[in-house]
Amino acid sequence: MEGSKSFQITGPARLQGSVTLSGAKNSALKLMAAALLAAGKTTLQNVPAIADVEIMADLLRSLGCVVDYESSSQTLTIDVPEIPGHRAEYNLVRKLRASINVLGPLLTRLGSAEVALPGGDAIGSRGLDFHIKGLTDLGAEAHSEHGYVIATATDGLKGAPISLSFPSVGATENIMTAAVLAKGVTTIDNAAREPDVVDLGEFLIAMGAKIEGLGSSLITISGVSKLHPTTHATLPDRIVAGTWAFAAAMTQGDITIVGGREDHLEIPLDKLVQAGAVITTTSDGFRVKMDQRPKAIDIVTLPYPGFPTDLQPMAICMNAIAEGHSMVTENVFEGRFMFVNELKRLGANITVDGHHAAINGIPLLSGAPVVATDIRAGAGLVLAGLVSEGITIVEDGYHVDRGYTHFAENLRALGAQVARI
Ligand code: UD1
Repeated sequence: MEGSKSFQITGPARLQGSVTLSGAKNSALKLMAAALLAAGKTTLQNVPAIADVEIMADLLRSLGCVVDYESSSQTLTIDVPEIPGHRAEYNLVRKLRASINVLGPLLTRLGSAEVALPGGDAIGSRGLDFHIKGLTDLGAEAHSEHGYVIATATDGLKGAPISLSFPSVGATENIMTAAVLAKGVTTIDNAAREPDVVDLGEFLIAMGAKIEGLGSSLITISGVSKLHPTTHATLPDRIVAGTWAFAAAMTQGDITIVGGREDHLEIPLDKLVQAGAVITTTSDGFRVKMDQRPKAIDIVTLPYPGFPTDLQPMAICMNAIAEGHSMVTENVFEGRFMFVNELKRLGANITVDGHHAAINGIPLLSGAPVVATDIRAGAGLVLAGLVSEGITIVEDGYHVDRGYTHFAENLRALGAQVARI
């Protein structure tokens, strides 16, 4: 971990070489929470060494689990007691949105759970109404009081048909992890289809759960009475892979992304091809090469398999130095354009109107101090520094460390001048 230091980037840079992906943050955190479903020792492989994993480990410890992380093998073990604690306290939960994922497992196993309302990134309002409605449909009594979600199901949960008004990733996960131990059959209509949800579902199946339809909009879960611990490898991080793909395209570079799954990034990679990149499949990943100034591309963020909101900052940064005009529309998190004001400090020509950003590409940005407001905005601003003349300092670099392992080292290995100050 490189601490909460700033990133100092001296640009411009052209990135060339290869990077190896770690496991996906947004999978690993959910797998950790779901381990609560079975007493005994769960082993998770390919768990990234990032701050958010440490916070989730502390949360599980506060519930009575013994958690060990071996960084050399990226393996995490979680020994879950017969009866874990049922209250997830604010001091840990507030640091991490994904802590809400302990709600479903604790409620279904213990019949009651109290989870502080989570914090996480400053990217929008991020309600919990779909989570609460889903658990209520399963027979729980759930409400929020004094800053906590309090849920009880004294006689256990009962399977039910559930329909989400938006395919929320977190709500799909919480409902799925609750329904695996409910009595009877649950269906989740308009379920999230993200690879992270599929990874979690496969982990649950390995624990003995009965789930069908993963990766589709209709997930069917037949409750079982007990689950057992298992060993599972986290899938590679598609958002980190996408970040490197955009980095290659923006800097007219050539990066091989070892462990990258093109099938998890179809639309973003199509967009990069439209921008002029050449993408080739390699024996263990894929390669993104760009020999020209990128062409501006229009982007609309949508739930998977649409363009991921987590790559929207990278798309805006690329468009900021691309040839032509573009429009980026954010449909998932309303606060996600906050970083645009920072990007404008680097000279980017962008006008935001509601959830649309109109971008007029200029050849090169101009280095300046900026502040990271969340993980992905922070990573995007570091990439912007690579296409800026002179020195860019991205303050509050700890945000980036929450989602990217060894970001500065990887950038240096690819030929960039990046320091932590
Ligand atoms: C997860 C990811 C995040 C990613 C997002 C969308 C984690 C830890 N985070 O967040 O990186 O950007 O998916 O791919 O995995 N909503 C409600 N009520 C609810 C639930 C959600 O209104 O009960 C809204 C949210 O405010 C947001 C939208 O639905 O506008 C999508 O949220 P959701 O898919 O739930 O995202 P997260 O699971 O929070």
